[in-house]
Amino acid sequence: MHLGANTPDRASQSRGFPVAGTADEAMTTTYDMSDPERREAGLARALETLRAGGVVAMPTETVYGLAANATDGRAVARIYEIKGRPQFNPLIVHVPSREAAERIAVFDQLATTLAAAFWPGPLTLVLPKRADSDIAELATAGLDTVAIRVPAHPVAQALLRALGKPLAAPSANRSGKVSPTTAAHVAADLGSDIGVILDGGPAVVGLESTIVASDGRTLTLLRSGGVSREDIEIVAGRALVAHDGAVRAPGMLASHYAPSSALRLDATEARPGEALIAFGGAPAAGAETAVATRNLSPSGDLGEAASRLFGALRELDGVAPTIAVMPIPDTGLGAAINDRLRRAAAPRS
Ligand code: TXA
Ligand code: MG
Repeated sequence: MHLGANTPDRASQSRGFPVAGTADEAMTTTYDMSDPERREAGLARALETLRAGGVVAMPTETVYGLAANATDGRAVARIYEIKGRPQFNPLIVHVPSREAAERIAVFDQLATTLAAAFWPGPLTLVLPKRADSDIAELATAGLDTVAIRVPAHPVAQALLRALGKPLAAPSANRSGKVSPTTAAHVAADLGSDIGVILDGGPAVVGLESTIVASDGRTLTLLRSGGVSREDIEIVAGRALVAHDGAVRAPGMLASHYAPSSALRLDATEARPGEALIAFGGAPAAGAETAVATRNLSPSGDLGEAASRLFGALRELDGVAPTIAVMPIPDTGLGAAINDRLRRAAAPRS
């Protein structure tokens, strides 16, 4: 399969793509990356946006991605906000090379073999996250594993190499809509919320990456996609295990993320012996007696709160039998924060 971006065919399709038709989209600029001058300007603008903690739409060979610096929790929170996801699903982390991936995830022999055969390309590997990786907790939704892939699209490659940071990127569509395979799809769906769309032509694969988890012995197929099961099985020399419903992705079990401490939600006061997760500037009654406190956002910013949530749960887990959690507004990102908190508070099975 040819994964190059600048075929004559593609260049003519993306040239003359209309920019920002409606008032809502007035701030969105689409850059035709097959035009050398626009490519330069588009890369510069995308880098500036990403370095400032913003999000951009980037082409990949599978589908267009909504990308943010994966090491910046606030930037990752913006992805969930724009997609309108009611939950924090873990995101795929994109890197330019296997060497970059090895700084983030622990590669066993099977994973190394698959990466050598299919990267760059439409295969995502779910592997243990390295303890010293700087990936934001929100990008992996607090999991100890990370989904990682090396995209083949030259524009994604150029962006990743110039930025020097991994990019978290789900498909660039609102939650519940189909994945975009052209810049025009992205503009129609998300144009009002993003400033930069890099137009790399129609996605040549056109469906999402195949997701495979490895624990060193067993390969589990978590999602079918751009690389066929058969091709993976030939390279791996073993059958892929169908997903067994065991908990790997969130939302599959209510209590999946449960910390060992109990959670008491919508707490307006901290009781003796409790740890406290605070939100906003007004202290909870009894806050000064809390065993330990983390404020998700003293200014009441839900993006900041989302970026701190998983870290706070980790840090407070086990320091007290119960963690009291102050009320979080249920609007915008608050809905996903509350979903996560309800799961963490659900009775264990
Ligand atoms: O082709 C693709 O993979 C596109 C392009 C943009 O790269 N990205 C994409 O991302 O489809 P998204 O967010 O729409 O799908 C990511 C999937 C989710 O179903 C999520 O549950 C799963 O990957 N995932 C991410 N991290 C995981 C983890 N640590 N364990 C299990 N599943 C994970
Ligand atoms: Mg998607």
